[in-house]
Amino acid sequence: MDPIRNPYAPGAGQRPPELAGRDRELKQFEITLERVASGRPERSLVLSGLRGVGKTVLLNALRSLAVQRYWGTGKIEARPDQSIRIPIAQAVHAAVRDIGHRHRDPERVDGVSGVVKAFAQRTGMADRKGHRWTPPMDVAATSGRADSGDLELDLTELFNDVGELARDLGVGVAVCIDEMQDITSAELSALCAACHEISQQGGPLIVVGAGLPHLPVALATSKSYAERLFHYRSVDRLPRVEADRALLIPASTEDVGYDDDALAELYRLTDGYPYFVQAYGKVAWDCAPASPITAADVKEAAPLAEAELAVGFFGARFERATPAERDYMRVMAELGLETDDGPVSTADVAGRLGRKPSSLSPARDGLIKKGLVFAEERGVVRFTVPHFGQFLRTQRD
Ligand SMILES: Nc1ncnc2c1ncn2[C@@H]1O[C@H](COP(=O)(O)OP(=O)(O)OP(=O)(O)O)[C@@H](O)[C@H]1O
Ligand SMILES: [Mg+2]
Repeated sequence: MDPIRNPYAPGAGQRPPELAGRDRELKQFEITLERVASGRPERSLVLSGLRGVGKTVLLNALRSLAVQRYWGTGKIEARPDQSIRIPIAQAVHAAVRDIGHRHRDPERVDGVSGVVKAFAQRTGMADRKGHRWTPPMDVAATSGRADSGDLELDLTELFNDVGELARDLGVGVAVCIDEMQDITSAELSALCAACHEISQQGGPLIVVGAGLPHLPVALATSKSYAERLFHYRSVDRLPRVEADRALLIPASTEDVGYDDDALAELYRLTDGYPYFVQAYGKVAWDCAPASPITAADVKEAAPLAEAELAVGFFGARFERATPAERDYMRVMAELGLETDDGPVSTADVAGRLGRKPSSLSPARDGLIKKGLVFAEERGVVRFTVPHFGQFLRTQRD
């Protein structure tokens, strides 16, 4: 069928034509927004899940809900080895701009912008690595607020001031943090402490985080009370009905349908993982000569979709790994055959490679840092990318 009308959107952070299976999260967040804006106690939110399940897309959708309510919003994407100070300053600055132009007292807005600037400028050279952002030049940095150099204290004052600015307008501020697992433990701890303080004061500011499945553990390790500070939502693959909706609704707007067998075959191939749903849906559409899309069309499309995923989704990630890290993952995949790619013991990996476990720590740590593998508990590892073990096993033969 006409590839120009193809509605599907495989790609990192690509907004899907139909956001399937996330109604509960959206509803819940609407309640959170109302509660926070009215000064009621509410927890910040953390989304976690495997690669390609739709965390970024959901985070963006939640942010849109806040924007619709005239909240100030900003977003950062955390990176390993990079301080959050400047990215947070940028995000908070964006939020101040959102609300600032509606505020009746421009001097007060400038005052808060000045605090953002002071916060941003309090960086060591190390914090500036990879950042070109220069804080707003049209206001003078204030002094004595959010500029102590202690991230916990500075974040608390920054969040407090921007929250109060939003409160003047009866709204709140949402700071969205993607790839949150990449924040260092020390900075996560500072962030938790600041959120804790703000929520105790009933300040209308929330953090919405998203990250890999070990994010809740990373948060709990950084601060013991993190468990009570956030609502944790695991973002997972879609059940059959929702995966079908993700395919059917966009197609129906183009007057295209699917045979039941085609939908069943697609679910077998994708396991309901949103990235795969988009990827297979896209190729099936292009392969099908006419509506409805049939199981035969899907069968024809499957190897093409697989080939595309092998390059874009799996291959690109595999290539980021060093030779030692690749060996490590190949063994994980071999061992994963027995457990359907469940957690693999690091001791077993070492045993299979004939090495001492300690000598493999650099490879394991490297893979965790690159976001290819995660460790929810000591002594085991798992792939962050769904079907990755399966992909590596087919590469071998
Ligand atoms: N609820 C959904 N319904 C249909 N498609 C979805 C849904 N959520 C995400 N997608 C699609 O899945 C793909 C991956 O989404 P996204 O980039 O948000 O995943 P992610 O969890 O952030 O992945 P990563 O961990 O790699 O950053 C995109 O192509 C997106 O359009
Ligand atoms: Mg993402």
